[in-house]
Amino acid sequence: MPTITSIVGFEILDSRGHPTITVRVGLDNGISAFASVPSGASTGMHEAVEKRDGDKRRYQGKGVQEVVSSVNGEIAKVICGMNVFDQTGIDHTLITLDGTPNKSRLGANAILGTSLAVARAAALSCGLELYRYLGGLHPIILPCPMLNILNGGAHADNSLDFQEFMVRPHAARTFAEALRWGVEVYHTLRSILKKKGLVVSVGDEGGFAPNLQSDEQALDLIIEAITQAGYKPGVEISIGLDCAASELYDAKEKKYIEKKRRERKEEFKTRTAEEQIAYLQHLVSLYPIDSIEDGLGENDWEGWQKLTKALGASIQIVGDDLFVTNQKFLERGIKEESANAILIKLNQIGTLTETIQTVERARRAGWRTVVSHRSGETEDAFIADLTVALGCGQIKTGAPCRSERTAKYNRLLVIEATERTNSFYLDTNKERLYNQTKA
Ligand code: PGA
Ligand code: ZN
Repeated sequence: MPTITSIVGFEILDSRGHPTITVRVGLDNGISAFASVPSGASTGMHEAVEKRDGDKRRYQGKGVQEVVSSVNGEIAKVICGMNVFDQTGIDHTLITLDGTPNKSRLGANAILGTSLAVARAAALSCGLELYRYLGGLHPIILPCPMLNILNGGAHADNSLDFQEFMVRPHAARTFAEALRWGVEVYHTLRSILKKKGLVVSVGDEGGFAPNLQSDEQALDLIIEAITQAGYKPGVEISIGLDCAASELYDAKEKKYIEKKRRERKEEFKTRTAEEQIAYLQHLVSLYPIDSIEDGLGENDWEGWQKLTKALGASIQIVGDDLFVTNQKFLERGIKEESANAILIKLNQIGTLTETIQTVERARRAGWRTVVSHRSGETEDAFIADLTVALGCGQIKTGAPCRSERTAKYNRLLVIEATERTNSFYLDTNKERLYNQTKA
């Protein structure tokens, strides 16, 4: 059994130019592997803690030198000597070593970087691709990509309050085809925006970030782009939203507020939870929206229940900030029927083992799972392999623009092409699997 002989952390940069950590795990068989940790902007309050130095003289306080020291010191001390295939044992050792419920002592970034690098080194030791090492030998499912082609909220300096407007090319026959459809819509949207004199600069996740009058205008433009690109809205390509409503909630007023419009001194709306639900129902009745993430805030459990009652039978209701990839919150959500799908982000919980357990729990409840990047990413494409390994069937990793986003899509293209006869693409709307050799 290969044994871990070294663990070294490095302070590197993420896609927003903020420091993050990459970890190298070395083994006694000469193999070594890296993994890097992403970082969110609209983070849920119950997420595992991303530790930063707070020293304002370096990187405006965002440095991770202490996190690197913990990896090189405390973590290396207990993990070196362990069997690299003992992922669960290693992850539990890290959780115990940290000793806090939210990984705030060592930092979820220190723990996750180590956890993921261990998995990579283990896969390499077996001579296996990461998705095979994590997922086993069964035929694999390529996910429906959810491409965030219009950015707003915390990810863009524009007027849009909803964070993400995504296209879901669910009716494609292969991942490659789905991605191509999404890319064609993306470029068509660019031409449409340009023609209308709107800016085509992009937000943190690579989607365009124009100043628009309303969410409806954003949706109209996307429909126009889908149609002009030659696809049927709703039938072939549907729309997904991430409202990131925790960012819009004002605890004092107990209302969802179009905060960006308010800040920009534009006309803005405020909505109670009931009004927000009615608004989302209104949008679903007008547009082919089949997935809504974080339509309400992270503490509005009552509202989520109502939202799922109202829309859960017809569309996917995805909890991100509400569940933070944490089994404890997911358990409550299953019991209260708060949603019917969960967003999966490795760094919200901080170890590979816990992430896999959360996915398995969601699946046992009949829920869907969507693996997700963060708005601050690196070139590491671990989540592409993870999606395939766990057969999640859906991934959101931004627009087809900016290398930290395309790295994940590109990895999936290669996996699908390599596994031609053995891979299937999931039409999430019909729950139908397509094999590319027959497509
Ligand atoms: P974040 O956004 O990475 O900035 O948290 C992604 C999301 O909300 O899904
Ligand atoms: Zn989200």
